[in-house]
Amino acid sequence: MNNVLTDQADTGYRLAEQKAAQYFTSLHEQLLDNTYTIVLTQDIHLWQKKHIQPFSWLSFLSPRQRKPESRDAHRYIHWLNVTGKLDDYLDRSISYIYMRDLGKALDSSETQKRIQRVVQDTKAYFMRSNTTHSKEQPDYISLAALYRWAQKENVETAVIWVINKLKHVASNIPKELDAEQAQRKLLKIILGVVLHVNDDMNDETPQAERSERLDAAIRLGYSYGLTYPFIDDLLDSQALTAQEKEQYSLLIRNALLTGIVPDIGEWKGANLKVIQYVHAELREAFEYIKNYQRPETQRTFFEQSYVFFQSQEIDRAKKLSNANYSNEELYIPIIIKSSSSRLIVRSVLSASADEGFDLRTFYYGIYNQLADDFADMFDDMEEGAVTPYTYYLKYRDLRPDLINPYELYWAVISYLIHEVYHSDAKTREVILDRAINGLKRCKERLGQEQYNEVMNTFASGQPEFNRLIQQMVRKADDVDFLDKLLRDQVIMQLQNDKQEKQDFLDTIRTVREQINIELQISKPGGLPEMKGILIDAANYSLQGDGKRLRPILTWVMGVREYGLHESSIIPLLRSLEYMHTASLIFDDLPTQDNASTRRGRSTLHQVHNSATAELTGLFLIQKAIGEQSSLNQFDAATVLTLIQYSAEKAEDMCMGQAMDLNAKGKTLTLEQLNMICFYKTGIAFEAALVMPAILAQVKGVEIASLKKFAYHAGIAFQIKDDLLDLEGDHRVLGKPAGQDVRNNSSTFVSILGEDGAKKEMWEHYCLATDALNEMPKPISFLRHLLDYIIGRER
Ligand code: IPE
Ligand code: IPE
Ligand code: MG
Ligand code: MG
Ligand code: MG
Repeated sequence: MNNVLTDQADTGYRLAEQKAAQYFTSLHEQLLDNTYTIVLTQDIHLWQKKHIQPFSWLSFLSPRQRKPESRDAHRYIHWLNVTGKLDDYLDRSISYIYMRDLGKALDSSETQKRIQRVVQDTKAYFMRSNTTHSKEQPDYISLAALYRWAQKENVETAVIWVINKLKHVASNIPKELDAEQAQRKLLKIILGVVLHVNDDMNDETPQAERSERLDAAIRLGYSYGLTYPFIDDLLDSQALTAQEKEQYSLLIRNALLTGIVPDIGEWKGANLKVIQYVHAELREAFEYIKNYQRPETQRTFFEQSYVFFQSQEIDRAKKLSNANYSNEELYIPIIIKSSSSRLIVRSVLSASADEGFDLRTFYYGIYNQLADDFADMFDDMEEGAVTPYTYYLKYRDLRPDLINPYELYWAVISYLIHEVYHSDAKTREVILDRAINGLKRCKERLGQEQYNEVMNTFASGQPEFNRLIQQMVRKADDVDFLDKLLRDQVIMQLQNDKQEKQDFLDTIRTVREQINIELQISKPGGLPEMKGILIDAANYSLQGDGKRLRPILTWVMGVREYGLHESSIIPLLRSLEYMHTASLIFDDLPTQDNASTRRGRSTLHQVHNSATAELTGLFLIQKAIGEQSSLNQFDAATVLTLIQYSAEKAEDMCMGQAMDLNAKGKTLTLEQLNMICFYKTGIAFEAALVMPAILAQVKGVEIASLKKFAYHAGIAFQIKDDLLDLEGDHRVLGKPAGQDVRNNSSTFVSILGEDGAKKEMWEHYCLATDALNEMPKPISFLRHLLDYIIGRER
């Protein structure tokens, strides 16, 4: 390797070390002469005036204002508003984000103005969603909400791109790493970068520039964020052997030193596949960031990245079994790593130097790190990770010289308030809010007993100061934060979602297996030969590897939602799949799409001939009507209504196919495209939803929202089908790819292009979500079906 480069980088690291050592020394001095507790005691006395209410009997007389469970974010925010606490709550929350994520000084009047605006905007946002959706939880954190934001900011392409990337990361990440956590970390970094850019713009920023910068921020955020799972976590995990780790980390080091990602070269390990994926993604990310850098910031970026990487390497090499680390060895790499990770967020954006930002961010890092490590100390202990807390827990008796990290944490707080933020009142307010809140949350999580134990271990050296702190933890109010509320909400929602998704997948798997058994058409003895041939032909098409989505949907609605007997609706399930299969047989004919494979096998007309295929299609449609008329567990009038509805929909589907074929080679409007796709595809989804509702005699308004959902979900399904025709794999699809181009068909892709088609698919996704939200009660299966429709690979 180029020695000059290595020397230069090492010099950079040594400089960072010197700076960190100085910082460490001044903190250590405060600890030794104990000045920080004196200063902080005064701070807390000032602070508590706003947070400890004098006891009042009146509080018993106003039950209306009882505090709701803060788990229910929506109601909690509403309660804050009613009790007049919302402004303060948002103010401390937004202020904290400005300080932590944007590195701002809160005493600047410019920053104050900005914060106040964001406070008002945030308040308006929550109050708006309060009035329109009074019944159900508004979704702050859903893909639909994210996409709506993307539309508002004109960054749909970047958002679609990043959603896809995140999905890919989760499905390709080695199993030794936590896929969800990787996604969450990535999202957090992306959000941080987006916030930075957002704050750098104002009302005067032209719309086009705004979109362009936000677009870049999303991609830069992902590109930088990727280093967390793919470098730090990967090297931390057991996914690679020690030798592989060494080779991999050398590769990263080379990239940072030279600015060029080297090829993998000869890989000496069993995990080449993992490395290939990670390497390709990181290379793309690296190139993206590099190309975005202005020449004058490129060096800073690489230097900082190297320092960040190096500090992590040093930190990672530590073993909990080593009893001999000095305080300096423990803390200096942490100071460097925690500050450089934040400094990079700005330099990744190629922003110009800002000394104030750099200084504040440098001092801030360790504070955040110590707060995080405090919260995670038991998990870290279990994993054998070295953090200041785990190390102290293990060696405090053997090593009286060891710094108590909890004391250091308070010393940092004092240093930040007075040295870095010049004793600014607002800063004191916000930092102390956060610190007391952290302890309150810890106490809640651990329970009183374990919390006391923790405090006995860490806080007993400063009994008087600790008494004051514990008094605040017990009595002080109004110290909670919006980001924590949202974080809890996200985690809860993700857990919930994971469970629901698993249920969804289990349901479609088991119901599909059952339907597959029911679909077979029996061939009683003594049939004329020709009838036997038609039945065999029909069974041939039915036996293919179909997804059975339509009858599955009917089963779930009928049995789960409306409580119909499973055995009573089996004829309906059959009829839906018979009609659908017939439509595919027709669709594949040489007179229509002329396809050679379907459901993983040769098309029927290829196995026999077109005439047999046509007759089999007709046979299946009649069979479907036969099944419907045998729905004998329902009253006759209801079944007639169903058959009538079914016939109308079948007519409409014929019209849809005719429109589709007639449109070949034509330029269609969006309206025409939607219409064709609704008739040829959406209708069948509508039928699958409406038919069980007819049998269950569901009210008209409810059926209307089912139709609205089916309309948008059905079109989204067809757009995805068009996209899969473009980029899918025929082995997975079970039918040819590229057929639409060969046929010169007019599809969403041919008319709007790939990007345009994706946007339109997401628009329908959002509209279908709206339809779901309007339903009297949420049907989680439909929500997951929608995700499945746009995410599927076949
Ligand atoms: C294919 O439907 C025809 C379209 C409406 C695009 P499916 O994708 O549901 O096909 P199978 O039933 O799983 O084969
Ligand atoms: C067909 O659309 C819709 C039907 C109801 C048959 P496509 O022609 O795009 O369906 P595939 O791609 O052949 O399955
Ligand atoms: Mg077709
Ligand atoms: Mg086709
Ligand atoms: Mg198609």
